[in-house]
Amino acid sequence: MRIMVVGSGGREHALAWKLKQSPKVSEILVAPGNPGTAGFATNVPVKADDIEGLARVAAERAVDLTVVGPEVPLTLGIVDLFQERGLRCWGPSKAAARLEGSKVDMKEFLRRHNIPTARFHVFTKSADAIAHINEIDGPCVVKTDGLAAGKGVTVAKNAEQARDAVIRMMEKHEFGKEAGSRVVVEEVLRGEEISVFAFCDGHNALMLDLVQDHKQAFDGDEGPNTGGMGAFSPVPGLVNQRTEDEIVRRILVQTMSGLVHEGRPYVGLLYMGLMLTDAGPKVLEYNVRFGDPECQALMPRLRTDLVDICLASLDGSLDKLDLEWDPRTSVCVTLASGGYPGDYKSGLPISGIADAEARGAIVFHAGTKMAGDQLATAGGRVLSVVALGTDLDQARSVAYAGCDAIAFAGKHCRRDIGRRAEARKR
Ligand code: AMP
Ligand code: GLY
Repeated sequence: MRIMVVGSGGREHALAWKLKQSPKVSEILVAPGNPGTAGFATNVPVKADDIEGLARVAAERAVDLTVVGPEVPLTLGIVDLFQERGLRCWGPSKAAARLEGSKVDMKEFLRRHNIPTARFHVFTKSADAIAHINEIDGPCVVKTDGLAAGKGVTVAKNAEQARDAVIRMMEKHEFGKEAGSRVVVEEVLRGEEISVFAFCDGHNALMLDLVQDHKQAFDGDEGPNTGGMGAFSPVPGLVNQRTEDEIVRRILVQTMSGLVHEGRPYVGLLYMGLMLTDAGPKVLEYNVRFGDPECQALMPRLRTDLVDICLASLDGSLDKLDLEWDPRTSVCVTLASGGYPGDYKSGLPISGIADAEARGAIVFHAGTKMAGDQLATAGGRVLSVVALGTDLDQARSVAYAGCDAIAFAGKHCRRDIGRRAEARKR
């Protein structure tokens, strides 16, 4: 089979790497890919949001299956377009992808299907939103409706911060006119936040092993939020059987059947952001894509052929498949540019990847480029360094040995990835 992966980050490198291991695969194309994927796949210079261009490549090169990494092509309707052209593309339709594209749609979906979530109100006028915030007169969460690259949410400690967020979203249009035309104001949920991933075939869903991200830039969960500074899997002690059953029964099954009921069954990978509250797990958000760097931590542990998973998910037979996992622990550390998530320099030479691999690490490229013959930095998150170990300590020590082998000016990583699991054991 010829497979095309859409995207260019660490997540897509990990997906392509995993797909390449399938005996069913003869060639992998990655659009647009990165210098890491160029090592074993054919990079195609088409951007991930050019869905028309991607459909052309898939037809011209007789691609048998397309796997989409980022959410933008999905929300633009890449799956629908490919279907119209008789091409197989693994992911949710445009209608199903609206779970991520619009916070208002998502919240209203949760309400319609009685899925646990924070209580909320939707506003189309800033004056009404502010009047409501004045009434609450305490902590609340303000969310802009459209995609805002993860920055459209303010967890306000008080009414003043909430009013300020409404003004930035609805009057100053900081996230664009469209995204700011509606806002959600909701109650603050308290508890531990977890991400749950599931492969879905429209009717059936298979939950993946647990994985935990580290969102803040610095050790000890300090500093600004980032796309993700590292992840580890499995996550012992986080979710007991009762909570897991509740997640499946009250959230995952309800989500799948709610979407079927609305004529937009969900196919692909579903990412659920949950808060484990005293009153049980509640949905914070859905994403219609894999987490990054969670994907990089999970793929090396997944033993089941990812091609089989995609095909079963496309033909509705996931219930006949069991996911098999490597019992070892994986740790993924993000090597970031100095200054990230704020300003940072690009184009700085990178060395030592082969040494990191010789020490047992798997290195996925995220923000890299070739400057002539020299590999150089080209983004905030530069590389994902992953290691498997018989326990967390061993995985951490190999991953950090890999990180230490790699050099570029300003290199920054958190030194405490996975430590949260140790803290939980105590
Ligand atoms: P979202 O994009 O909706 O997941 O929001 C981004 C982040 O804001 C989440 O990962 C949470 O950390 C936080 N957040 C969102 N909604 C709430 C809420 N109702 N209560 C507490 N924190 C929240
Ligand atoms: N690592 C979080 C995300 O992919 O959204």
